[in-house]
Amino acid sequence: MFARSTAARTLARRAFSSSARAERKVAVLGAGGGIGQPMSLLLKTDPLVTSLSLYDIRGAPGVAADISHVNTKADCKGYEQADIASALKGAEVVVIPAGVPRKPGMTRDDLFNTNASIVRDLAKACAEHCPKAMICIISNPVNSTVPIFAEVFKKAGVFDPKRLFGVTTLDVVRASTFLSGIQGTDPKDTRVTVVGGHSGVTIVPLLSQTEVAKGVSGQAYKDLVKRIQFGGDEVVQAKAGTGSATLSMGYAGAIFVNSLIRGMNGEKNVVEPTFVKSPLYESEGVEFFSSNVELGANGVEKIHPVGQLSAEEEELLKACLPDLKKNIAKGVEFAKSA
Ligand code: NAD
Ligand code: LMR
Repeated sequence: MFARSTAARTLARRAFSSSARAERKVAVLGAGGGIGQPMSLLLKTDPLVTSLSLYDIRGAPGVAADISHVNTKADCKGYEQADIASALKGAEVVVIPAGVPRKPGMTRDDLFNTNASIVRDLAKACAEHCPKAMICIISNPVNSTVPIFAEVFKKAGVFDPKRLFGVTTLDVVRASTFLSGIQGTDPKDTRVTVVGGHSGVTIVPLLSQTEVAKGVSGQAYKDLVKRIQFGGDEVVQAKAGTGSATLSMGYAGAIFVNSLIRGMNGEKNVVEPTFVKSPLYESEGVEFFSSNVELGANGVEKIHPVGQLSAEEEELLKACLPDLKKNIAKGVEFAKSA
């Protein structure tokens, strides 16, 4: 994300990069929430977004009225629950942060019972109203909600694996921040590829592939890996029952959408780690996996393999795969029986 292109480096300084201009309507489902609001604001400032459609079961028209006063070109409209068809009509990108966040003591999987049905119902609406849109899932547990979304689309006969993404960008953002904090580097020059999934040990940072991480070893390495894997817990604890990461996630979500649209607009070599239907570990029963993905006009252009791993990373991957497989199976089973 950050180091691949000049444009991507610029993003780390919070300015969005623009490429060839095309009409790009982005819909945010869950736009009234902790992530939805700041992310929608950032999307309104992205020159590549030409229209913003903000939907939530509560509060979206107010958020849209507020954001619409920002003097950037994208038009911005809010929609209430009954209006989901209008919210999704013509959407080319749909970003979904709808659902409940964690409280201290909870795992992301503890959110499954509530969020699985929210994502399933939103998937049904997308299958009906914008089946060709690029779908970016933020709602947790991402390891299960992405497979749920895929199953609903399969049932509706509209599944295109190139157009469904689990947003794992926050793990990449955190890895960059935490590593540069240790090494005294500028985060914009500190890219860390993070693969696997999005929870605890399924988050696998590939520090050996980052020049900046050279020299981080022993306990310092272990602590850094743990911090990247459990960074979400830091925020959940600090927010003390009022939610989880919202502002950093809003930032990460807006970065991912910017990259996705740049790829859709024809920019080459736009690469982001993202959780997609992937052949990489399919033989081990892991149908979805996050690795570096080149984004293009039709979504997933190319899925990169994880590359050379250190012995420690081999161990991390070994720990990741069984959990990931279980999380995916849980989502698939729910969607099949729902
Ligand atoms: P929040 O409670 O502040 O906001 C969620 C919003 O979703 C609310 O406004 C709510 O009204 C809305 N909503 C609920 N059901 C809906 C439905 N059926 N249709 C449309 N909107 C609906 O929560 P938040 O802090 O914004 O977090 C949202 C989700 O994102 C959580 O599941 C959280 O765990 C997840 N999250 C993921 C990542 C990631 O890296 N992928 C990072 C942070 C948070
Ligand atoms: C995060 O990584 O911050 C999110 O997945 C939210 C959470 O529950 O930790």
